[in-house]
Amino acid sequence: MKNKPWLPCFVALVEVIQFEKQRIKKEDSRIKNLENDELELLPKPMRRATLFENEESRKKIQESRILKINSSASNAMSKKLAVFNMKGGVGKTTTAYNLAVGLVKFHSAKVLLVDIDPQGNSSVSLGIPVWEIQLQLKDVLQKRVPIDDVIISSKSGIDVIPSNILLAEEEIPISGLPGRELLLRKALSKTSAQYDFVLIDCPPNIGVFSINALMASQGVIIPVDMSYLGLLGINAVERAISMVRSALDHPIEIAGVLGTRFDSRNKLSKEVLDSLNQHFGSKMFETVIPETVKLREAPSYGISIYDHDPSGAGSKAYKNFVAEVVKQYE
Ligand SMILES: Nc1ncnc2c1ncn2[C@@H]1O[C@H](COP(=O)(O)OP(=O)(O)O)[C@@H](O)[C@H]1O
Ligand SMILES: [Mg+2]
Repeated sequence: MKNKPWLPCFVALVEVIQFEKQRIKKEDSRIKNLENDELELLPKPMRRATLFENEESRKKIQESRILKINSSASNAMSKKLAVFNMKGGVGKTTTAYNLAVGLVKFHSAKVLLVDIDPQGNSSVSLGIPVWEIQLQLKDVLQKRVPIDDVIISSKSGIDVIPSNILLAEEEIPISGLPGRELLLRKALSKTSAQYDFVLIDCPPNIGVFSINALMASQGVIIPVDMSYLGLLGINAVERAISMVRSALDHPIEIAGVLGTRFDSRNKLSKEVLDSLNQHFGSKMFETVIPETVKLREAPSYGISIYDHDPSGAGSKAYKNFVAEVVKQYE
């Protein structure tokens, strides 16, 4: 040992390499299992597309890595908005991806959509087969790859940082990292200037991922569904935002509260909307998103409401909402 002072280092290095190899192997097999499980859960149109266009979609994804992004398209005034509510099923994902598509389609904006929900629903809704991706947001948060390597251009013209269920496994390790609340903000600082809007689709809780989303955003859009529990949840959302402002010293603003899943035949819908208007006043978006079958169907085709039902009520409402967001930030 005396003659070989490097030996302990060498042994440690070999151990680290072996550990890393095993981890990568385990992760690969998990992704494989995930493919099969997820396929069963998918709606039929999507399952078909996945089975028959597998190779093609895989190639498309690889070809569309953001390396192709025109780095001269710089926009220092990029607006970063989180779509947040701790309650699930309120329309966060539906709002995030239809806002993203609407900004591109009707306002020629350059948009990055960050999917920080392990369910990966906004990526899937844009036609990205999340069970096939090699790199995703978690790899950026863990500082394993540069952010540009995980960005995928979707067919609707939006750049997406996707996630899948593997992100959930990293919640505890990421929670232990120094500066854990600022991982996403730091990562985005290297690329966000290329975009007019960076939209972040949050998970339905207030864990480390939602905190990262809020800390990386200047504003928050809060979708609220027309239910009694939706209304009750508002208090928790406001507490979370004020905690970010005071305890974490980040001056995030409420960009607006969006009434979603409104059913005009339902008395409760009207009552909840009235209460929200009273509570939030001018912070409410004027647009209210109706409950429609077409809005529920669109994700299974991997397209936006504007392509699935261009003249329907859902499409019109989201188009108006997009215009309100643009007006606020022009
Ligand atoms: N306005 C709406 N009309 C009908 N279905 C909707 C509407 N908004 C959302 N949904 C459906 O409700 C479910 C939950 O919506 P989602 O956007 O995923 O909510 P969250 O992201 O808040 O959990 C999804 O199946 C979605 O398609
Ligand atoms: Mg969601």
